[in-house]
Amino acid sequence: MTETKTGQAKQTVSKSSAPRIRVGVTYYPEHWGKARLGIDIPLMREAGIQIVRMGEFAWSRLEPSEGRYDFSWLEEAVNAFGQAGISVVLGTPTAAPPAWFHQKYDVYPRDEWKRPLGFGTRLQRCLNHPVMRESSRRITEAMARHFGHNPFVEAWQTDNELTQNYCYCDYCAKAFREWLADKYGSLDNLNRAWGTVFWSQEYSDWEQIPLPWFAKCGMAHNPSLQLDYRRFQSDATVTFQQEQVNILRCLCPGQKITHNIMGLNDSMDYFALAADWDFAAWDNYPITPWGENGMRVPLGHDVTRGMKNRAFWIMEEQAGITGWEMMGPQTEPGQIRAWAWQAVSHGAETILFFRWRSCLYGTEQYWHGILNHDGVPRRHFQEVKQLAKEFGELSPFLSGAEVRSDVAIVHDADQHYGYHIQPQVRGMGLWDQILRFYTPLWRWGVNVDLVSPAADFSPYRLVILPGWYILSDEFADKVRQYVSRGGTVVMNPRTVVKNIDNVCVQIPLPGLLRDVAGITVAEYSPMAEKVGSVQFRDQNTASISVWADQLLLDTAEPFAWYRDSIYAGKPAVTCNDFGKGKAWYCGTFGDEGFYHIFLKQILNECGISSWDGLPKGTSVRTLYREGKRYTILVNLEGQEKQLSLPGDWKMLLGEQGLNTLTLKAYGIAVLESDRS
Ligand code: GLA
Ligand code: ZN
Repeated sequence: MTETKTGQAKQTVSKSSAPRIRVGVTYYPEHWGKARLGIDIPLMREAGIQIVRMGEFAWSRLEPSEGRYDFSWLEEAVNAFGQAGISVVLGTPTAAPPAWFHQKYDVYPRDEWKRPLGFGTRLQRCLNHPVMRESSRRITEAMARHFGHNPFVEAWQTDNELTQNYCYCDYCAKAFREWLADKYGSLDNLNRAWGTVFWSQEYSDWEQIPLPWFAKCGMAHNPSLQLDYRRFQSDATVTFQQEQVNILRCLCPGQKITHNIMGLNDSMDYFALAADWDFAAWDNYPITPWGENGMRVPLGHDVTRGMKNRAFWIMEEQAGITGWEMMGPQTEPGQIRAWAWQAVSHGAETILFFRWRSCLYGTEQYWHGILNHDGVPRRHFQEVKQLAKEFGELSPFLSGAEVRSDVAIVHDADQHYGYHIQPQVRGMGLWDQILRFYTPLWRWGVNVDLVSPAADFSPYRLVILPGWYILSDEFADKVRQYVSRGGTVVMNPRTVVKNIDNVCVQIPLPGLLRDVAGITVAEYSPMAEKVGSVQFRDQNTASISVWADQLLLDTAEPFAWYRDSIYAGKPAVTCNDFGKGKAWYCGTFGDEGFYHIFLKQILNECGISSWDGLPKGTSVRTLYREGKRYTILVNLEGQEKQLSLPGDWKMLLGEQGLNTLTLKAYGIAVLESDRS
């Protein structure tokens, strides 16, 4: 790999016809009626709202009975917003089919016990059911014909928060068998690939193949079947969306297509889903009744940006208290503004708050909007207004800015599935593995791209491969080439344990990447919560847990050694020169201090700069545009913070001390400096 200072990977934050950084909301005209629209639109204009999302749960109003469509109320709302200068995203309403539809057609998904889900919530549809597919195409086509040329409709959102089609119905069983027949060609191939001789599971007829129906504890289904079932249901969801996209592309020229993913949901292949979008979007709720998402927020931003490697949207951004039966905490003054700025600092360009106004009825009464149930603008409204004003003022600088990263973390659906099917030991979840690397890099203000295995690695100085468990020969070759041409990779325990059929490889670990790593895993020890320790080359020590690989040095040099356990004195972390590059192998999972020593060494060797001494809870991200660098600092906590920042910079937003920069509680600073 040839690397120059400007050789960083580029993720474009927006196109040349740079749209402004905007604020929007989700709005449900069907909940409020026409009269309220006349109050809400002026209020939204006052707040600086530039875009609304509508329609994604309105099927019963859009098609009140089979084949009888009524788009008049939605069109009225679209036009009213449009004429007020507020553009519209329309959702296809397939996440909640209406009662009349279910009364006529049984499209309910079946759970592992084959019990139907029934009516009364949402997502009560099997995406493999032929009637659901046909109805989805029909309602999409009817909406697309009606709104495809409406100048105020800027984009479409397919369905809502698609996940793997969690269904075990007869249609799914049939479609799964067809998918398998297509993939394997013959039962002999399938039996061989899955190793069905285990527990006498050899199949002599496609009809014999089960779905992973309910299995008692200790009697789990074959891991190869489980992996293919997840891949199959993910494909089903992708195809379901594709059918809507094909219609929208054809009937809605000029209108963009996206979808609101759930950030770190790993039930399906989001990269495959993303192939059909124009841009990516996700739903960001940092604090819910179920807990705080902490580091999963910035990671969710980077994962979403990685879907299309360019600017993304927040389709639902937390607007206040979240809650259904139970409520999460009230947001503190400045907090929703800080979260929105944090999104922009990761490359988001349009942020729609969820929702404009808290709903009076239904399951989500306590998922609060910008306005409370009484519809009176108060603190949250003022905060959004301030945010929209700042976005407007800073758009000339930040619109079209790019995230540039020297570091990539690679992940894909197969790895997520692999750890869900067999977690192996507590603490081994893939996001947890990723966060061990991501968290210190985030703290040091190092930009990171979360990319798919298909990404071009050549612009990155460092490629981290956490938990690459199920690996194809092609991907192993790609990694080998990247390193031999000068790249640096980091590997973890459980690298290349399985082939793509989820069958253990019969070569010494780390399997296909053993030559690159320059070590052999002689044996391993699942540790879970048990704590041990290692000593680094510089004599520093750190604690470890979860897992320990005993490493034999083939060509690699040791960087850390176990201090205790049956592996005491044996290498725990190694580094291998391979071609023009380097491969690090980390045979265990460490504490904060561990990654400080380990990752700082790697960043230094790769020439990647990082910030030290940033106060805890401070987000620092950098965007680049036209020879300028924009550093966005966000205080994610309620205590004021002082920072001293090196270099020459001009403050575009924030408060400046004499030699220091003050970040008030939930404060923001945007600094401009020359690139270099
Ligand atoms: C999700 C959904 C919304 C709504 C919110 C709040 O993100 O997309 O429809 O349910 O959560 O619960
Ligand atoms: Zn089904």
